[in-house]
Amino acid sequence: MAILKIARLGHPVLLQWSEAVADPTAADMRRLVTDMVETLQDIGGLGLAAPQIHVSLRLFICRTAVGGHTALFNPEIQPIGDEFEEAWEGCLSIPGLRGVVQRPARIAFRGQDIAGTWIEGEAAGMAARVMQHEHDHLEGVLYPMRMTDLSRLGFVEELARFNPPKPVEHERQKP
Ligand code: NI
Repeated sequence: MAILKIARLGHPVLLQWSEAVADPTAADMRRLVTDMVETLQDIGGLGLAAPQIHVSLRLFICRTAVGGHTALFNPEIQPIGDEFEEAWEGCLSIPGLRGVVQRPARIAFRGQDIAGTWIEGEAAGMAARVMQHEHDHLEGVLYPMRMTDLSRLGFVEELARFNPPKPVEHERQKP
């Protein structure tokens, strides 16, 4: 078990197209997920993608509503319908900043779990947003690249001072 170093904006690994995971059941994949969960618990976020810890593989983890973590290998995401939602997002690779991003409100997803089994489902609201954000990391896309209004990008402290109510925090840093 280990707490891993997070790649920050400017590191080329964050701009790469990640490789498919051949065998999610491999021992090194199990260890990677364990370390990613430990890292996310330590830093206090909602999701973490493998490129963010300098591993260019198609894998991300998300915190679940009940406080556990779901790992998804080789994930695929499709929007459902044509409804979009706006919300504030942050990213552990862009510490201290938040920005407003418009994304599809509902998605269908599929991917492999740690046992290699293909699972699929639908998500809406914050869960859909987190999965889309993490999936973007696998394709070299960071949330500012999705923003249409860069005047709504700012430091958390300043946004909190001048923009009450408080922004919804996507990947919150520990205080
Ligand atoms: Ni991120």
